[in-house]
Formats: sequence, C-alpha cells, structure tokens
Amino acid sequence: MKVGVPTEIKTDEYRVALTPAGVRELAQHGHEVVVQAGAGVGSAIEDADYESQGARVLPDAEAVFAEADMIVKVKEPQPGEVALLEPRHTLFTYLHLAPDPELTRGLMASGATCVAYETVEDDRGRLPLLAPMSEVAGKIATQAGAFMLEKPMGGRGMLLGGVPGVAAGTVLVIGGGVVGMNAAIIALGMQAETYVFDHNVDRLRELESMLNWRASTVYASTLAIEEHLPEADLVIGAVLVHGARAPHVVTREQLGLMKRQAVLVDVSIDQGGCFETSRPTTHSDPTYEVDGITHYCVANMPGAVPITSTYALTNATMPYVIHLADDGVAAAARANPGLAEGVNVAGGKLTYAPVAEATGEPYTPLFDALEERAAA
Ligand SMILES: NC(=O)c1ccc[n+]([C@@H]2O[C@H](COP(=O)([O-])OP(=O)(O)OC[C@H]3O[C@@H](n4cnc5c(N)ncnc54)[C@H](O)[C@@H]3O)[C@@H](O)[C@H]2O)c1
Repeated sequence: MKVGVPTEIKTDEYRVALTPAGVRELAQHGHEVVVQAGAGVGSAIEDADYESQGARVLPDAEAVFAEADMIVKVKEPQPGEVALLEPRHTLFTYLHLAPDPELTRGLMASGATCVAYETVEDDRGRLPLLAPMSEVAGKIATQAGAFMLEKPMGGRGMLLGGVPGVAAGTVLVIGGGVVGMNAAIIALGMQAETYVFDHNVDRLRELESMLNWRASTVYASTLAIEEHLPEADLVIGAVLVHGARAPHVVTREQLGLMKRQAVLVDVSIDQGGCFETSRPTTHSDPTYEVDGITHYCVANMPGAVPITSTYALTNATMPYVIHLADDGVAAAARANPGLAEGVNVAGGKLTYAPVAEATGEPYTPLFDALEERAAA
C-alpha cells in the first residue's frame, strides 16, 4: 500500500503523523511512503531523515493525496484536505466528529473510509490512541492553568503551591481518566490542594492509590461540584463519554459561585467542551473571559510540545498503521474488533453510533457499509 503523510495545517499544530522509524517499519512490510516536504520540521524531523529510511518527499498535499491510498494525519482534516479525499482513500487520524456535523457530512460525501484514533479500543475497552495525547494534555492543563493564574496573564495572582505561611491554591479536576490523572499528578507536584471528581467509583478507588492518597477523590454529583467551586482557583475539565459530545459539568450559572479571575481549563473541548461557556481556542490566543472567569480551551494542546507528542503518538499508532497497510481496512477491522470501533465513516455511511446520535445523521453498522462499498 502507498501511505501518505501530509503536513498538519491546523493552527499552531506542529506534530506529524509518522516518524522516520515508522517509514522504516512500513518499508520492511513492503509498503511505500510519501511525505509532504517539511511535514516533520515542526517536530525537528528533516525531509532527509525520512528519505534516508526510504520515503519519497513530495512538494505539496495535493501530490500526497493523489499518490497515496492511506492518509495518516494527526488532527481532523481541514476543509481543503476534505476536498482532496476520494472513495479509494483510507484516512487514519483524530476526527472528533460528535461536535462537528459539518465535518461529518464532508467525510461522508468524500466516500473515503475514515478511522478515528480517539475511538479505537484495546481489548479492555480503553482508548490506546487517545491515551498518549491525554497524558500530554493532562500535564499541560495544570501547567497552563498555573500560568494563567498569574496576574499579568489576567489571573487572580496566586501561586498554586503556596509558600511556608501562605496556603496553597485549590485545583478541581473533573473527570479522573487519563487526562485527569495526569493533571492531578502535576497539581500534586506543584503542591496544590487537589481534588479529583469522577462518577465511576471504581476509578476513584484506583486513583486514590495511584495518586498515593495525596489527592481527595469526590463522587461527581452536581451538588458536590457546586460545593467545591467556591474554593477553586483552577478547575480542569477532563470528562469523556467515548465518542460522544462531552456532557456539561459546570454551567454558566455556576460560574457565579467561583472566585473572580479563577481559571477553567477545558481539555474536553475537542469533544465539544464540558463547561457550558467553553468554545475552542488556539495556542496563539488561548484564553477568553466569561463572567470574570478565565477560560482556556485549546483543542490541540499536545501540538504545543511536538517533540514529545509526535513520538508519544506514533509509538501508539504505528502497529495500527502497519495492520491497516498490510490487510486493508475491511480485513483489519474484522480481525480486530477494537480497530473496527475506530471506523467512523465508510462508503459514504456513518458507522459509529455515538457520532450518529450527536449529529443526527443515520447510523449504518460498519460491516453492512463495507459490504455495500465492496459491491459498488
Ligand atoms: N484538548 C486537547 O488537546 C486534548 C488532548 C487529549 C485529550 N483530550 C480530551 O480530553 C478528554 C478526556 O480524555 P481521557 O483520555 O482522559 O478520557 P478517559 O476516558 O480516560 O477519562 C474520562 C473520564 O471521565 C469520566 N466521566 C465521564 N462523564 C463524567 C461526568 N459526567 N462526570 C464526571 N466524570 C465523568 C469517566 O468516568 C472517565 O474516568 C477527551 O474529550 C479527550 O478527547 C483533549
């Protein structure tokens, strides 16, 4: 198979979907790789590094899409990229379709088969291709929140860890999954008073021991969140219902319970945001204010640390890229039910139920869509 790697074009995105090590692995499996010139530069990978492992460098995205059968990316395709997709393409990337009906319809119209990193599951129902970026985003969430609490950044002017004789700040992490745990690790490292909320009691049990009994865990009822909001200096939103639009865990009205110039970091913004007042922002303009509360809602947080994120992401995606290239999407999905969960769009049909529910588009079971596509 011919695998194509275009340069990421989302604002402030510096990651790349394949490293030279990935080119080498694919070449060893008999596949060809074409890379857009400059695709790796943001992650300190030169064109020559790809070429030395057997890739061909092409001048632009048009050439990559025209030559490749499978397109491997990082972020959801931007409108210009959707226009380049054809029915023969398999697209493998983050998609986050639930909050984006327009992109969903664009991908359906393209006829391409689109596999979303964030809904691929492992044999324990976990999200192996979301986890590495959630680890990065969780750590950035606390760092960014601490920075935004500084007075010149428009924050309250408070040091999260406090100093001897002055109390530490309070961090609430709502959603104690991969993002939440990593956000809590950094908050504890900064010596902040840290609370983790989740509605899964077994997960809270695990977190108690993983965080060495240094964070307080709280069942995420509306009342418990309301009772803790007045103490919070930083609230990190990190809930996820697999593939679905994020539920709102803090409403606009509840902002009134918070201290002025406290900070909200909505990591769940890529699934539509878990605070009612969230809207996506970029690294170049990361915050805005609603009712005196600073909101940080960057939808591609790991894009800011590409040298870490590119390698963390590709370590996880590589075995799936090889599986898809070796067997094609239909056989790979039949052989691996967790990979089948990743296929959101095939043959013009929407094949992932939570996205169908969120966007109002009709749902078609994956193998029906693949059979129809094969018959066409
Ligand atoms: N903004 C970014 O750059 C970026 C980067 C990586 C991940 N993310 C996003 O961060 C979010 C969290 O990802 P994750 O990997 O930690 O997911 P996860 O599945 O590991 O964890 C989600 C947690 O939320 C909990 N939860 C769900 N609904 C809840 C509710 N109503 N109240 C309390 N808890 C609830 C679940 O029990 C689970 O423990 C996802 O939307 C993911 O896409 C964003």
